[in-house]
Amino acid sequence: MNMANFQFSTTPKIISSAGSLMQAIDWLEKNKLNKPMIVTDAGIVSLGLLAPLEERMLQNNKSVYIFDQVQADPSVEIVTQAIDFARNNGIDSVLGIGGGSSLDVAKLVAIQTHNSQTLEAIFGVEVIQSSAACSKLPLILAPTTAGTGSEVTAVAIVTTGNTTKAGIVSEMLYPDIAILDAQLTLSLPSSVTAATGIDAMVHAIEAFTSKIKKNPYSDMLAKQALLLLTKNIETATFSPSDISARQAMLLGACLAGQAFANAPVGAIHALAYPLGGHFHIPHGLSNALVMPHVMRFNATAAADMYAELYTCLQQSGVVFEHLERTDNTRKQTTEQQAEAFITFLFSLVTKLGLPTKLRELGITKADIDTLSIDAMKQTRLLVNNPKEVSLEDAMSIYQQAL
Ligand SMILES: NC(=O)c1ccc[n+]([C@@H]2O[C@H](COP(=O)([O-])OP(=O)(O)OC[C@H]3O[C@@H](n4cnc5c(N)ncnc54)[C@H](O)[C@@H]3O)[C@@H](O)[C@H]2O)c1
Ligand SMILES: [Fe+2]
Repeated sequence: MNMANFQFSTTPKIISSAGSLMQAIDWLEKNKLNKPMIVTDAGIVSLGLLAPLEERMLQNNKSVYIFDQVQADPSVEIVTQAIDFARNNGIDSVLGIGGGSSLDVAKLVAIQTHNSQTLEAIFGVEVIQSSAACSKLPLILAPTTAGTGSEVTAVAIVTTGNTTKAGIVSEMLYPDIAILDAQLTLSLPSSVTAATGIDAMVHAIEAFTSKIKKNPYSDMLAKQALLLLTKNIETATFSPSDISARQAMLLGACLAGQAFANAPVGAIHALAYPLGGHFHIPHGLSNALVMPHVMRFNATAAADMYAELYTCLQQSGVVFEHLERTDNTRKQTTEQQAEAFITFLFSLVTKLGLPTKLRELGITKADIDTLSIDAMKQTRLLVNNPKEVSLEDAMSIYQQAL
């Protein structure tokens, strides 16, 4: 185990059980908060996911303020509208309920409603002034996708241009409570379940191989996350109403989130982001498309870590549910185990019915230069990759993914 000096921080309280969203009301009650704002998107509202909560809140004499204008990959404008909504209604607490997009907007509403810095001024790492901690609104986050882990990360990601996103990173962005309630994820379409689940797996894998901040807590969380996610992703995708598979996926995504919040992700994410920026491919799918190719590139530097993760899956019997057992499994070299891990992940993506080639999404050879140049701008992520990535390397990885 890596015993280097490290720091680890996370959301102070996590509630994990189906139906636990209602516990948000008890917490509001206990803390005498009567004007909560729910930050969500219109899709979540129209699915009726908030109706039971709203009803109970009204029974408890809480005013209900719902901001449902969040859109996937939220823009500066949407975040600003949400903050204005909070200020205009004098809200006293924030409940983010939705995918990573809604949770990220909720985090920024909690910080910015009473902060004197502008939104533009807080982009970057730890630039929110310390006085904002005192004025921050109480914040609860309940994910409705099992992917980003935003409920346990100190990050909010905002779309700043046609093809660009920027992050706000501050420990102040951790919520007071994360609620993992699988009832909120039952309505997730299969393709979104699969893609967001792969995103969470990539968080675990990249946290485990993170070059600078790899640490024992993240390692432990990453392994447990990968087990839960690989064991349950097929059931959650193809039997969407299986509540225990859904709860396991939420927990897996949360554990992976805790891992990568402290041991950040690397080149898979760096090469995935330009696919989202230029082709509006959902984040999880972008990761799935480049994952095996980046891992094969990384294998010369990370074979031992990939082999360790693969062994973990073998020992828990996950691998044999997917692949034929070969007689010489036990005699595999580290490199063979690493390759078997990559093959296993690729076959999983295929089984889930996700596209596996960039060309299936309309991307051609002519796009590789632009994608590669953009990927190289993700220096914040590339520094965490176990192997240095050059422009030529990025081009060759995209070529293999075509
Ligand atoms: N803060 C972080 O640490 C972090 C990490 C990774 C990504 N992100 C950000 O998170 C966002 C992506 O989040 P996401 O992948 O969770 O998706 P999302 O929040 O963008 O939602 C995608 C779509 O899924 C729908 N949806 C969500 N839950 C549903 C449910 N239970 N049933 C039916 N439909 C549902 C939404 O209505 C939306 O249309 C991006 O903006 C990304 O940049 C944040
Ligand atoms: Fe991700």
